[in-house]
Amino acid sequence: PAAGARLNQLKKKLTDLIEAKAESLKGRIEPEASFDYTLPGRRSFVGRRHPLMQTVERIVHIFRGMGFAIATGPDIETDFYNFDALNTPENHPARDLSDTFYVEKGILLRTHTSTVQVRTMQAQKPPVRIISPGRCYRSDTPDASHSPVFFQCEGLYVDRNVTFGDMKGVIIAFAKEMFGPDVKVRFRPHFFPFTEPSVEYDFSCMLCGSKGCRVCKYNGWLEISGAGMVDPEVFMAVGYDPEEYTGYAFGMGVDRITMLRYRIGDIRLLYDNDVRFLRQF
Ligand code: PHE
Repeated sequence: PAAGARLNQLKKKLTDLIEAKAESLKGRIEPEASFDYTLPGRRSFVGRRHPLMQTVERIVHIFRGMGFAIATGPDIETDFYNFDALNTPENHPARDLSDTFYVEKGILLRTHTSTVQVRTMQAQKPPVRIISPGRCYRSDTPDASHSPVFFQCEGLYVDRNVTFGDMKGVIIAFAKEMFGPDVKVRFRPHFFPFTEPSVEYDFSCMLCGSKGCRVCKYNGWLEISGAGMVDPEVFMAVGYDPEEYTGYAFGMGVDRITMLRYRIGDIRLLYDNDVRFLRQF
């Protein structure tokens, strides 16, 4: 009862205050110009990380767990780091203006994160175990699966006695960590100037359980990127002895992985920055 009495006092005090205020405002506000103070306010939205950055964080977390460190490099590069040191010949089609954005002669927007391999090996002696997430640029016409700006995450491991089997093991372990124990990984022979032997690798499509859907173009597999054993020419360009060291390198398409994780059917959504899209993550 005592608390009830005090609450009633409080209620009366507040009511009096409100009435006094209403009295003092009377006549000062035109009825039409007044507005309803009981309307709910405008809500502000809490910002969050872009889905691509959420995927980068997850990739970094998984590779950290396997002992990889993070390395970074500039987006604007010289053709030495993007091509020459990666054993890519002068007349290679990737160097063409239609594939690469040049800032000026010899200066370009990196077309892949393999540049960071070279920079890291120049700066330290083996063993090297890094991943390098970052933006890349190619002069592609945008469509559902191409964007002139996209994300890659490079991996590099150099030491004595590193094998192709080690590389497969790490990529398979990553795939299972990222997409669960049922995902399958497929390696197909390929060519890259900076690795020998080289592969492209695919993950089984988790959206349809490999039955075939729009995202995997009805073949059950999704191409993730390329990989291979570091070419001795690359070791020579950075001053490593190819007789002593071996290593593997792999790329990773961060956009592809993001699209798979969140079932996004068009890469352009990741770069349009439409808040109605971004709010869903
Ligand atoms: N840099 C290659 C690309 O962008 C991918 C790759 C990375 C291949 C490392 C082999 C080794 O397509």
